[in-house]
Amino acid sequence: STERTLSIIKPDAVAKNVIGQILSRFENAGLRIVAAKMMHLSQEQAEGFYAEHKERPFFGDLVAFMTSGPVVVQVLEGEGAIAKNRDLMGATNPKEAESGTIRADFAETIDANAVHGSDSAASAEREIAYFFNDSEICPRG
Ligand code: CMP
Repeated sequence: STERTLSIIKPDAVAKNVIGQILSRFENAGLRIVAAKMMHLSQEQAEGFYAEHKERPFFGDLVAFMTSGPVVVQVLEGEGAIAKNRDLMGATNPKEAESGTIRADFAETIDANAVHGSDSAASAEREIAYFFNDSEICPRG
């Protein structure tokens, strides 16, 4: 079925100037970008977004990294978009990511791993609403 998922191009990938290359991978896989914005997250925005990881030992480093520079937040739409995006990203740890995936090709460390993608339908719904109003999302036929 047609789904939506939230994607974030993280500060490391923005700094590497590969925003376009990453967006092309989504488009080439048949996903449509139905919302997008560049933003520099505040500490509060990053902490709220990653609230489920609050108790994890890496939470402080994760928030520091995600606020270290601008990100590009997008809503991707398409058939099986959540799983498709996760396949395109590859494993969370780039060292374990299959070749040809975004993380294998553009990332080196688990902290600076180029992209975030929603991991379930429930996460996608929460994460999309965290960054976008309905009026900012432009469904396409
Ligand atoms: P992301 O998909 O954005 O979700 C949480 C992020 O925490 C994850 O990508 C990684 O960049 C980062 N992270 C750092 N250490 C770990 C870890 N041990 N397990 C999972 N995520 C981690």
